[in-house]
Amino acid sequence: PAAVIVAIDGPSGTGKSSTSKAVAAQLGLSYLDTGAQYRAITWWMVNNGIDLTDPTAIAAVAGKAEIVSGTDPSEPTITVDGVDVAAPIRTTEVTSKVSAVSAVPEVRARITELQRSIAASTEQGIVVEGRDIGTTVLPDADLKIFLTASPEARAARRSGELKGADVKATQEALIKRDAADSSRKTSPLAKADDAVEVDTSELTLQQVIECVVTLIGEKR
Ligand code: C5P
Repeated sequence: PAAVIVAIDGPSGTGKSSTSKAVAAQLGLSYLDTGAQYRAITWWMVNNGIDLTDPTAIAAVAGKAEIVSGTDPSEPTITVDGVDVAAPIRTTEVTSKVSAVSAVPEVRARITELQRSIAASTEQGIVVEGRDIGTTVLPDADLKIFLTASPEARAARRSGELKGADVKATQEALIKRDAADSSRKTSPLAKADDAVEVDTSELTLQQVIECVVTLIGEKR
């Protein structure tokens, strides 16, 4: 079959990454984690002492870091100027700063171009997960999914085994980040008109995976 392009968007903690990776692996497709790219550029800016309260300063260096994404779903990789940043892009510092960086139009233009070239070069097809894939990056995707979940379900998933107070703090941080991502001017987190919305609150990961695999099957 021809290369199938699947866009999976939604707020944090809805199971986007786990679902996207598993679906891609199951169907032999490539996988792109676009959040990791925004985290990587944010990591570079933190490392280089850029003032992240100043959008002009962020825009000025938007093109400086060379970000490379490996698209094998069983082993996704991300490097900045050749350095493996898979672990450092997940720190609370980067997580708390990424929304300020990803809101800057020059950053989005640069990363969007990178994403489109990766999607265009896939032979077998690709699952691309993010916030604006269906609306902006790949508006002609064969299938668009928008994952949602209750704030409680999202915070619980993100904080894993942590105790009560941490769930609360995680939930607050998540809500803050989603509010910032949803309210920015340039390609905010949004459901595309032609996206299929799936509420994952009451579903197991396996059920969400099956649902997406079925939807892809209908498109092929
Ligand atoms: O998906 P993840 O939580 O790793 O994304 C990190 C951040 O990257 C998001 O909070 C958002 O600010 C940004 N992002 C974005 N557009 C995307 C993917 C992620 O702005 N397509």
